[in-house]
Amino acid sequence: LAAVPLFAGVPDDVLARWEAASALVSHPAGRWIVAHGEDGTDVYALVSGTARAMTFGADREVILADLRAGAIFGEMSAIDGRPRSASVIAVSDVELMKIPAAVFLAAVHESPAVCDRVLALLVGRVRALDERVHEFANYSVGDRVRAELLRLSRPLPGSRGEALVEPVTHAEIAARIGTHREAVTRELRAVEKAGLLVKRSGRLVIADVPGLAESLRRA
Ligand code: CMP
Repeated sequence: LAAVPLFAGVPDDVLARWEAASALVSHPAGRWIVAHGEDGTDVYALVSGTARAMTFGADREVILADLRAGAIFGEMSAIDGRPRSASVIAVSDVELMKIPAAVFLAAVHESPAVCDRVLALLVGRVRALDERVHEFANYSVGDRVRAELLRLSRPLPGSRGEALVEPVTHAEIAARIGTHREAVTRELRAVEKAGLLVKRSGRLVIADVPGLAESLRRA
C-alpha cells in the first residue's frame, strides 16, 4: 500500500495494519473486476497494470476513465453501500490490493490526509464528468472528437505547437465521447484535411495545438 499515492505519508505501522487486512490479487487482461449494478464494497488499489472504468448502453460502450498503477476504484460502493456504479475491466494483466470497505473507511477516518485525497479524487471525477456534459451540451460530434484529441495528447518536446496523440483506436475515441466509430473516422479525416492532424510513423500528431484549440472556441 506504500506505493499507492492515496496513502502517502501514512506511518508504516498503520499501513502494515491496513495491509494485513487486505489481499493481493491478480487478474488477466480482459477480466471484469467489478460489474455495474453488482453488490460489493471492497476497494481496489491498482498495484500494477491498467484498468478501465466503463458503462454500457444497448448498442455502445462508454469509457468513463482509464485507471493506472496507484489508482483506486470501488470506493463509491464502499462509501454509500449501493451497487457498483460502473464496471471496471483489466486492460492489461493487473495486480490489485483488495481492501475491505471497513479498512478503507477507517483509513479515511484516521487520516485527514487520506480523507483530503479521497475528496480530491471524487472532486476531480465530478470535474471530468462536468467537462464531458458541457461538451455534450455545446459541441458537435466533430468538436467532441477534437476536444478528445487534445485530452489524449502530450506536447512534443522541441516542437512548435505539436503534440503526440496517445495510441488509440477510432472505436476507443468513440467510446470516450459517446458516439459511433464511423463518426470518429469521418471527423478525424476532416481534422487531417484541415492540416491540424498528421500521421507520423503510425502515430497521430496534432500539427497545431493552439489552432485545434482555437477551432473549438470558435464553434
Ligand atoms: P464503485 O461504484 O464502487 O464501483 C465501480 C467503480 O468505478 C466506482 O466505484 C469508481 O471507483 C469507478 N468509477 C465510476 N465512475 C467513474 C468515473 N466517472 N471516473 C472514474 N472512475 C469511475
